[in-house]
Amino acid sequence: MIKLFENKETLSRAAAELFATQAQTAVTAHRRFTVVLSGGETPRRTYELLAQEPYRSRIPWPQVHIFWGDERCVPADDPRNNAGVARRTCLDALPLAREQLHPIVCEGAPSLGAEKYAAHLRRFFGNDPPRFDFIFLGLGEDGHTASLLPTSKALREQVRWTAVTRRPEEAFSRVTLTAPLLNQAALVVFLVMGQNKARVVQSLFKAPSHQPLLPAQLIQPASGELYWFIDQEAASLLD
Ligand code: 6PG
Repeated sequence: MIKLFENKETLSRAAAELFATQAQTAVTAHRRFTVVLSGGETPRRTYELLAQEPYRSRIPWPQVHIFWGDERCVPADDPRNNAGVARRTCLDALPLAREQLHPIVCEGAPSLGAEKYAAHLRRFFGNDPPRFDFIFLGLGEDGHTASLLPTSKALREQVRWTAVTRRPEEAFSRVTLTAPLLNQAALVVFLVMGQNKARVVQSLFKAPSHQPLLPAQLIQPASGELYWFIDQEAASLLD
């Protein structure tokens, strides 16, 4: 489902509202709310709103578990670290115990970090299928999402839940959740804003079928819902 929004603020408020309602539904249904956060600039305003009224007190924070869709293998206090950004914009202001935060730790050891995160997920979900209740994803101008980058072999991963990827121009590797894991979610919400995303949004929704799939197009929840929250600027090349 595609939802168009006038601007960043209305989109961010709608995302926070959806998060709050889904949190209440999940906790009522199975006493916890498992969330995957994305990095990047787009979700920052949404994260700020979640820590503010009216959203803050509507969310059953003691039952919320926070995971990440990807992480850059840099120190936790590095401004490029996704978990660090989420902590500073939202999580540090909330009543969350350490055990409720599940950051990907991969500084200096990407492959080991990926293996450890997959093992952590197996321990957390136990015999239950690893079905996250809510996943935020962003969209890169090249069509990537999480750190499923256009040229990475992680795009072909069909079994493992985590993978290591790398941009040639970056001095660090990344650990990302893979499409097989992301596609088990109950709800995936892409947040896309800004004129700089208009061309990739056009490619996503108007691409001829012969065009090779963009990484974001691999995200097709098997039995969950997929929402695209797009602002007018990013949707400006759609009919
Ligand atoms: C990352 C993000 C990435 C992000 C997109 C969009 O760690 O880089 O998880 O997938 O969501 O690159 O980033 P912006 O929101 O900054 O445009």
